[in-house]
Amino acid sequence: MKVAVLGAAGGIGQPLSLLLKKGLPAGSELALYDVHPVVPGVAADLSHIPTGVKVSGHGADKLDEALKGCDIVVIPAGVPRKPGMTRDDLFNTNAGIVRNLVAAGAKACPGACYAIITNPVNSTVPIAAETLKQAGVYDPRKVFGVTTLDVIRTQTFVGEMKGLAPEDIKVNVVGGHSGETIIPLLSQLGLDFTTAQIEQLTPRIQNAGTEVVEAKAGGGSATLSMGEAGARFTLHLAGALSGNESVQCSFVAVEGRSTEFLALPVRLGRNGVEEVLDPGKFSDYERKIFEDMLPSLKSNIDKGLAFARNS
Ligand SMILES: NC(=O)c1ccc[n+]([C@@H]2O[C@H](COP(=O)([O-])OP(=O)(O)OC[C@H]3O[C@@H](n4cnc5c(N)ncnc54)[C@H](O)[C@@H]3O)[C@@H](O)[C@H]2O)c1
Repeated sequence: MKVAVLGAAGGIGQPLSLLLKKGLPAGSELALYDVHPVVPGVAADLSHIPTGVKVSGHGADKLDEALKGCDIVVIPAGVPRKPGMTRDDLFNTNAGIVRNLVAAGAKACPGACYAIITNPVNSTVPIAAETLKQAGVYDPRKVFGVTTLDVIRTQTFVGEMKGLAPEDIKVNVVGGHSGETIIPLLSQLGLDFTTAQIEQLTPRIQNAGTEVVEAKAGGGSATLSMGEAGARFTLHLAGALSGNESVQCSFVAVEGRSTEFLALPVRLGRNGVEEVLDPGKFSDYERKIFEDMLPSLKSNIDKGLAFARNS
């Protein structure tokens, strides 16, 4: 198994790479790529941790070398938010970064899976899909927007509110990955929330990223919790490619639904997405906020597709 992290020297890239060095099975390769010159040092640093994962570092002009033979390409490369910014404000910078990295992957590792962390995920995932399509190597089962942070935040906040162990809470978070498009399906937990609790928890989950951006006061967005979330998703995907199936929520291409891409629970297996699962029953409140956000999600998706088609 070869995994590349593109943007490996960044705030997310470093803890993510650390967790992959510790979590990938022995015999795996972990290729770290970044345009920042510190990346060979990050690789040297991680390589001193005694696990069976071989780490290599690749600087700005060594992208092809990092990607060659990859099974999974994880992309946290790009700029993060500062206070007052929405994820969509990152589009102008990050859209081109994701397109260029995925275009290189289309040539160097045409059968790879892509786990896209770079925001705005609602647009960067359609960009990745369209870029692969243009290169003639698109497989919709292999392109994922990483929304695991929305799931682990929901686990944490529900656990705090209800006095439960957060790691035992199994919850679906569907829709997209920004503000109102994040729809946690709290009603499925069977926890007797009051209306007031639902109306407090839901916006907290939707705006949790902004909570971190403001607390970091200009120093970036979530990096450590995102490193954990990104590693969780990547390790589940790596396991699935090797035959250990698992169900995870992710923003993927879908058919016959309200939008072309949607975060839903998916069954991961040897080919990536083996099955997009039904998200289960929505409460009236969840149904309403889901329907209300669809125009915004659709516009994020269309913006990404238009960018990739016109560039
Ligand atoms: N999906 C999520 O839930 C989620 C959560 C938090 C942050 N994010 C997003 O992740 C991205 C990264 O955040 P961060 O805090 O790690 O930012 P950061 O600035 O700390 O790190 C980004 C890294 O990307 C590198 N980079 C920039 N252009 C590159 C290119 N063309 N090729 C390779 N590397 C490149 C930079 O050198 C830097 O090391 C942002 O877009 C942020 O919004 C996503």
